[in-house]
Amino acid sequence: MCGIVGYVGKRSAEEVIIDGLSKLEYRGYDSAGIAINQNKETIAFAKKKGRLSILEDYLKEMPILGHVGIGHTRWATHGEPSDINSHPHLNEKETIAVVHNGIIENYMEIKEMLIAEGYTFKSETDTEVIVHLVDKHYNGNLIEAVYAAIKQLRGAYALGVVAVDHPDELVAVRKESPLIVGLGKEEFFVASDVPAILKYTREVYFLENGEVVHIKDNALKVYDENKNLVNKEVKTIDWDIEAASKGGYDYFMLKEIYDQPQAIKETLIRRLDADRMIHLDDIKMTKEQLEDITKVYIVACGTAYNAGLVGKYAIEKLAKIPVEVDIASEFRYSNPFIDEKTLLIVVSQSGETADTLAAMKLAKSKGARVLAITNVVGSSVAREATDVFYTWAGPEIAVASTKAYTAQIVAFYMIALDFALKRETITQDKYSETVDKGKEMIENIVKDIKDTKSAFYLGRGLDYMTAQEAALKLKEISYIYTEAFAAGELKHGTIALIEKGIPVFCVVTQDDLAEKMISNIKEVKARGAFVIAIAKDTNKEISKVADDTIYIPAADDLLMPILSVVPTQLVAYYASLARGNDVDKPRNLAKSVTVE
Ligand code: M6R
Repeated sequence: MCGIVGYVGKRSAEEVIIDGLSKLEYRGYDSAGIAINQNKETIAFAKKKGRLSILEDYLKEMPILGHVGIGHTRWATHGEPSDINSHPHLNEKETIAVVHNGIIENYMEIKEMLIAEGYTFKSETDTEVIVHLVDKHYNGNLIEAVYAAIKQLRGAYALGVVAVDHPDELVAVRKESPLIVGLGKEEFFVASDVPAILKYTREVYFLENGEVVHIKDNALKVYDENKNLVNKEVKTIDWDIEAASKGGYDYFMLKEIYDQPQAIKETLIRRLDADRMIHLDDIKMTKEQLEDITKVYIVACGTAYNAGLVGKYAIEKLAKIPVEVDIASEFRYSNPFIDEKTLLIVVSQSGETADTLAAMKLAKSKGARVLAITNVVGSSVAREATDVFYTWAGPEIAVASTKAYTAQIVAFYMIALDFALKRETITQDKYSETVDKGKEMIENIVKDIKDTKSAFYLGRGLDYMTAQEAALKLKEISYIYTEAFAAGELKHGTIALIEKGIPVFCVVTQDDLAEKMISNIKEVKARGAFVIAIAKDTNKEISKVADDTIYIPAADDLLMPILSVVPTQLVAYYASLARGNDVDKPRNLAKSVTVE
């Protein structure tokens, strides 16, 4: 999704903005641009289709000097990637410039209205209506013009606005799309995410929906949508910029695969005391409130949804509460049964996924309690939720989610155990044993795995959930068509796809289902498949039937998804490398999907 950086201070705005945009590349983009107020007659700007380096090269030849500016990386929604459609967008006189992340839903009707009033449009974007609206309402007061403009907008937007008449001013707005403020010494930053400003400051404001930032006269003020001054709490970022850089690995994805033991450990140990008791301090739900819950939904997108499938299994098995898992983009259109006795658990690494947020809002409006599992402190999902469980996986930069997934599963196990203890569906002994085994697993990581050209994944029970996540990972970064199938469904149609030489990955970690999986392996092998099994190192039978076996350390069946997913992540990684793809930034994808 698009990234925004804005700067007001004494440094070169161009340098700060380009550097900040480079830290937002993980969000996904197809073009980049910058606008700087040089205190001249018009705003200076440059925008280029393609990688940020293209814009950088251009600026090396044609630098834009100045200390106040806005920049943007665009992930196309309305109109193809092109120089013209790139942000910033400017009014006709080029005296006002706007960058935008989000989607303006009513842009067509505004556009028609503005055209009827004589405005001309250069781009196909929804964003261009914003700059013309600001222009229309502008009478010397920039913030008033922005307030008037946003009153007419419907949809999601984080905005940065500068105007030539206001050489030391920047106005920024946050509605649904993320935006933070960085507070430096006599300098201010706005950005879509913290890494963009971490080089300069650790002091930030997380903006709420509807808040408007006004930087002027070397001061920064935040107002709410009714123009009341807001007293914001300064948050200090305690993670390091190093944590968000590659640390010697070729790609963020590989680093993040290796980060997993640490991510799991952090997620676990912050909630365990010396007696190995779980403390979920941010989950305020009492035993009585939990007893009152009659329905649990887990709602998320992509990999987070796949973690939810494992979560359902854990909660049902340990806490004995029935759970339904739904894809966030489908949830609110499927007439879900929600009332005050419903618990909605949302899962989101970024905490900014638009569909997940919309599902939460719907559930809250019907009185449900919302528990969020997210990796980003202060994210929109965290702020909307009644209770929050933070996965402490650290910043995840690669588009393909890896360490967030395993940390999400750990989160589910801890929540399931906590619920189970509260509901007295598990004994203290069984509980301690489960946690101990989880801790042991932290030590074990699967390192080497061969790359592959195409694959199917098969599994049963929990292994089917791992298979689904494995297939998503492989297809999203290698672009190989990959599907996961419940192995028991093979004979009901899928087996027709098996032909000579097709690699079929079989996840076999559930003891009670292993024999059935062996039969399925034989079925596909009889039709020519090349079978790679991912199995517990205690299962010696598997290597007799599979062509190749990746053994992983044996643990309690319930905990195996945390281990079995690791080799599948490496399969995806190496397949992507072998095909010459950009592992961390797969085509067409964004890290944080902040539009529907
Ligand atoms: O930030 P979220 O966890 O809400 O993101 C959800 C999905 O967009 C995300 O998991 C996506 O499927 C990943 N690219 C998969 O690797």
